[in-house]
Amino acid sequence: MNQAEKEAYLREYSLLKNEGKPFYPYIVAKDSMMAVIVMAVIIFLTLMFGAEFGPKADPTTTTYVPRPDWYFYFLFEVLRVMRNVPEFTPLAAIGVPTIAMVLLFLLPFYDRSPERRIERRPVALVAGIATIAAIAFLTYSGADTGSPNSVDLKPPSNLSAAQVATFRAGSLVVGESGCLACHVIGTNGNNGPGPPLTHIGSKLRPGAIASTLRNPTAPMPSFAGLATKSPQQFQDVVNFLAELQ
Ligand code: HEC
Repeated sequence: MNQAEKEAYLREYSLLKNEGKPFYPYIVAKDSMMAVIVMAVIIFLTLMFGAEFGPKADPTTTTYVPRPDWYFYFLFEVLRVMRNVPEFTPLAAIGVPTIAMVLLFLLPFYDRSPERRIERRPVALVAGIATIAAIAFLTYSGADTGSPNSVDLKPPSNLSAAQVATFRAGSLVVGESGCLACHVIGTNGNNGPGPPLTHIGSKLRPGAIASTLRNPTAPMPSFAGLATKSPQQFQDVVNFLAELQ
């Protein structure tokens, strides 16, 4: 702001101040009135439609898909993008939001322009639109992610029709058996404590995979129960993993 702009601003300010009304009690009264109206509408809606309750919490569920409320999808997506590099998780969870908040706090200090017309603020305009677009995109992709209970890998193109059927069946069982809690397969699952299984078929033969599932090393649980209860599903899992070359 140069000297002339400063004087113009101060002149305008004192004019407005002289013709204006004091904050207390005028604005306070208006705000209180609005607060009362909002509360009344909420109470009215609650009495008319009731509060929504979700299903009862079930501590034994294995198919629950943990998801944040929609307005946190963008943060959730930032975390998800970085989830396979554990060193970056604190950066995604704490670093990025903190940097954004600090930038917002410091805005009055690094943006000293008195110009208020948006068409004369190209940098601010582009930065604002880019931020909104980024948050919208992250929110969309966060809302659109696959569940942690399914494998999103496509069958390799060199498989026969029967092998593709096994691939699909096996990946379904793997998704529902909780393997992704400990293993990465493609873009799904957690990186550890188990090793990634994306290319397990080129490392272990089907027999070795089957015996790992029957007699694994802790903390991996044994899936011998699946082999007795549903041999077909067990075989599908083994064949599916063997096809992950
Ligand atoms: C509680 C975590 C956990 C779960 C759940 C789990 N695993 Fe594992 N898995 C491990 C760990 C840890 C190892 C490594 C053990 C070792 O090194 O001997 C492992 C090893 C393996 C291996 C051998 C990998 C290699 O490179 O030698 C295979 C194959 C495997 N798991 C498949 C599965 C499948 C399929 C499922 C689901 C049906 C599953 N795991 C569920 C933790 C888990």
